Amino acid sequence: PVTAAIRGRLLSFTRAPAGPGDLDCLTYHEDGLLLVGADGRIAAVGSWEELRGQVPEGVTVDDHGGRLVLPGFIDTHIHFPQTQVIGSYGTQLLDWLEKYTFIEEQKYADPAHAAANAAFFLDELLRNGTTTAVVYGSVHPQSVDALFAEAEARGAGLIAGKVMMDRHAPAALTDTAESGYRDSKALIERWHGQGRQRYAVTPRFAITSTAAQLEAAGALLREHPGVHMQTHLSENTDEIAEVRRLFPAARDYTDVYDRFGLLGPTSLFGHCIHLSEAEMARLSESGSVAVFCPTSNLFIGSGLFDLDALSAGRRPVRTALATDVGGGTSYSMLRTAAEAYKVLQLRRRNLPALAALHWMTRGNAEALGMAGEIGSLEPGRWADLVVLDSHATPAMNHRMETVDGDLEEELFIQVTLGDDRSVAATYLRGRSSHLRQ
Ligand code: GUN
Ligand code: FE
Repeated sequence: PVTAAIRGRLLSFTRAPAGPGDLDCLTYHEDGLLLVGADGRIAAVGSWEELRGQVPEGVTVDDHGGRLVLPGFIDTHIHFPQTQVIGSYGTQLLDWLEKYTFIEEQKYADPAHAAANAAFFLDELLRNGTTTAVVYGSVHPQSVDALFAEAEARGAGLIAGKVMMDRHAPAALTDTAESGYRDSKALIERWHGQGRQRYAVTPRFAITSTAAQLEAAGALLREHPGVHMQTHLSENTDEIAEVRRLFPAARDYTDVYDRFGLLGPTSLFGHCIHLSEAEMARLSESGSVAVFCPTSNLFIGSGLFDLDALSAGRRPVRTALATDVGGGTSYSMLRTAAEAYKVLQLRRRNLPALAALHWMTRGNAEALGMAGEIGSLEPGRWADLVVLDSHATPAMNHRMETVDGDLEEELFIQVTLGDDRSVAATYLRGRSSHLRQ
């Protein structure tokens, strides 16, 4: 049975655009209707005229008029315990971790603190139109319990994991190779496949894990096919030098992870800024994903992601786009795409609006191996939606006066000027989960 009906300008991608002007990568209904089944999945998508007769008696149509309705945004790298680290002044990666992050993350030993922040975190994701996120918890398993519980209660699907960290961090923030393994395993058994939740084995990065812990992370992946892996790779030049010192036998930073079986199609590597040819070739060959975190890379001063080098024809590396809050400075995937555009401009490359919006939705879903579940408006996918208002701010409204019905130009204005203010509503499983005041 149809339990919800949403009317608006429905826009979804069937594939990546070949370039600007390639509107054939879209399905677009100027006056569209999306029907949701009792299971929270999309039952039908089409024009208002074609589908209006299928709205059952007693179901009110949510009419969004001239607003755009897209698949909810997907954030592929974000830190739950950094909601009060975002916007911390003056440092680059290693000092930033010590001075701000490792102080704040200690608070997540307290389940009440974790629960309160889980509510804030989900509120903020939804306010920004993000309906799925891949999340780093703190080292404490209770932080991940709090996060998954909050997500499941709201109907959101997260991919999350407790950070594994057994050295080079304050004592209050370290586990051991054994306890990190045991706690991660218990979380996988508790949460992976529970409702919409999925687990990601999460060794923080090579500096904070011993070889024994990376070995344990590899064992967790082998023992639990289908769980994801997330970590940081080649973000900052001082970090890279330290990894070389700590793992002298490894060929390069990527090889540190490779040796322990951490590369593969369900592995997400945050940043990937300073990679060698050999490293990119290994990421490509293994099907691993390089995650572009533009606001973070700019804010912490890490460097410019080289999409051209990573996408090079012979050995393309799969890529995803993410906020990386709290190194990143915005929860908004629109703001994130706008900063991605600027980074690519400095690399003498463009990011068309179609490519940016595809990346935030279907592209990120494909990077997670979840395109059958999320990222597009197709029957059978979860009815996770974002409603975008192209007249949300004076600047957008004024600029829109010159657009004259050009969809691609409107989308570029959304990507360039849009943020949480242009998110008029967010839906999870066909239910309104955020409505702009
Ligand atoms: N590398 C290791 N930990 C972190 C983190 O929390 N944020 C970022 N941006 N990089 C990291
Ligand atoms: Fe990060």
